[in-house]
Amino acid sequence: MKHTKVRDLLNSTTTLQEVNAKGWVRTFRNNQFIALNDGSTINNIQCVVDFENTPEETLKRITTGAAVSVIGTLVESKGAGQKYEIQVSKLEILGDSDAEKFPMQPKKHSLEFLRENAHLRVRTNAFGAIMRVRSVLSYAVHKYFQDKGFVYVNTPIITGADAEGAGEMFQVTSLPLDNLPKNEEGNIDFKKDFFGKHTNLTVSGQLEGETFAMALGQIYTFGPTFRAENSNTSRHLAEFWMIEPEVAFNDLDDNMDLAEDFIQYVIKYALDHCKDDLKFLEGRLLEEEKSKPQAERSEMALLEKLNFVLENNFKRVSYTEAIDILRDSTPNKKKKFQYLINEWGADLQSEHERYLVEKHFKCPVILYDYPANIKAFYMRLNDNTEPGRETVRAMDILFPGIGEIVGGSEREERYDVLVQKMEALGIDKEELYWYLDTRRFGSATHAGFGLGFERLVLFVTGMTNIRDVIPFPRTPGSAEF
Ligand code: 4AD
Ligand code: MG
Repeated sequence: MKHTKVRDLLNSTTTLQEVNAKGWVRTFRNNQFIALNDGSTINNIQCVVDFENTPEETLKRITTGAAVSVIGTLVESKGAGQKYEIQVSKLEILGDSDAEKFPMQPKKHSLEFLRENAHLRVRTNAFGAIMRVRSVLSYAVHKYFQDKGFVYVNTPIITGADAEGAGEMFQVTSLPLDNLPKNEEGNIDFKKDFFGKHTNLTVSGQLEGETFAMALGQIYTFGPTFRAENSNTSRHLAEFWMIEPEVAFNDLDDNMDLAEDFIQYVIKYALDHCKDDLKFLEGRLLEEEKSKPQAERSEMALLEKLNFVLENNFKRVSYTEAIDILRDSTPNKKKKFQYLINEWGADLQSEHERYLVEKHFKCPVILYDYPANIKAFYMRLNDNTEPGRETVRAMDILFPGIGEIVGGSEREERYDVLVQKMEALGIDKEELYWYLDTRRFGSATHAGFGLGFERLVLFVTGMTNIRDVIPFPRTPGSAEF
């Protein structure tokens, strides 16, 4: 007999048929009621064991975490909280789970404890829900772009380029570390390495993506990205997934429109397709909020917050306007915390971003036209700016509770201006000759952005630490499993 997913059993339109369910025991109450979960839904199916006719030995083996197969009749449940249950006629233990040793006991574990058990935490309700939402969101990403005719491009993971020019790269080598070949100057001779040159893990697929956009028109990437950024925060990972669309003939306004529409689409998709999981996560958060003082509780529950983002336009504000707002903001004296920023040209700190989003505008914000010298080399220089106040057509999208979720720009399409910029920043033109070719042959206005996938999953699930929305987090000092 083929087994049926718990999700399908719970959505069944008929009863009294014989069914087979396979899954893992979440709890076993009164020697009679198994709460069985198979990962297809947050909901368990209750399996009622005929304990009088089941050998004592078997009953003892129905422990939390054990894999079991049950055959029985699907009936309407008299118990509260579930529509159906299985009256078990045959029960088989597929894999035992030693109750003394299994770490995922049915009680509330701290997120820190669960992080240390990343291979088992997915067996908890919360992590099952988060990982299903993550999966649905990644499908929504592809669906959005595919429906619009974008071409999915797999940009390389090993590359010689530092797209962001920030030097935060993991080097790739096949050289024996205890016997590195040296050149005449005494430096490591990467010519003797696997690729005959120095390479690193990609920090962004954008530059390669641009070459494809200049032929295929609209492209997107969605892949792993690596940053050796020593930021041990709840928003940074050393390995994260990024979505990077790039569109020929789009300017900065088109880029903002695309990003806003895209983000709203994927959030709506999750709301429509992950109802049970999001409701569960919302309940979990409400429970957590109860232990906080009133002033620190969030104003909106999870689903309300997600709907708010769908129903309200993102506020578009230039960097210069943002600086004025921050300068005029009343510093919070009580907490000795200054939102004040005086200098035009300074990069915004995450406190500033959060002030703008959470205190001032109280909605997602798109900041654009940043000072040229705090942004990457490839961004389009604005025309007619005051000397010393040059700005680029950059945009960052800031989200409540998250901060920066998107970074993007219109690209510098003028060969001469781009070359000048690279020279001023000491960026190797020979290494990036292929990138410059896009500006030599049929260059055109184009724009794109990068969305940090885990930051999106954070927002949608309401979680607060980025380590809790990726299966196996990699952060400074931690790369287990
Ligand atoms: O702002 P970033 O550095 O922009 C780029 O990489 C551009 N090449 C994108 C483009 O225009 N195609 O990164 C984009 C986004 C950030 O807004 C953030 O959401 C996410 O990637 N991100 C990280 N997420 C998790 N951990 C990190 N260490 C991240 N660094 C960036
Ligand atoms: Mg950025």
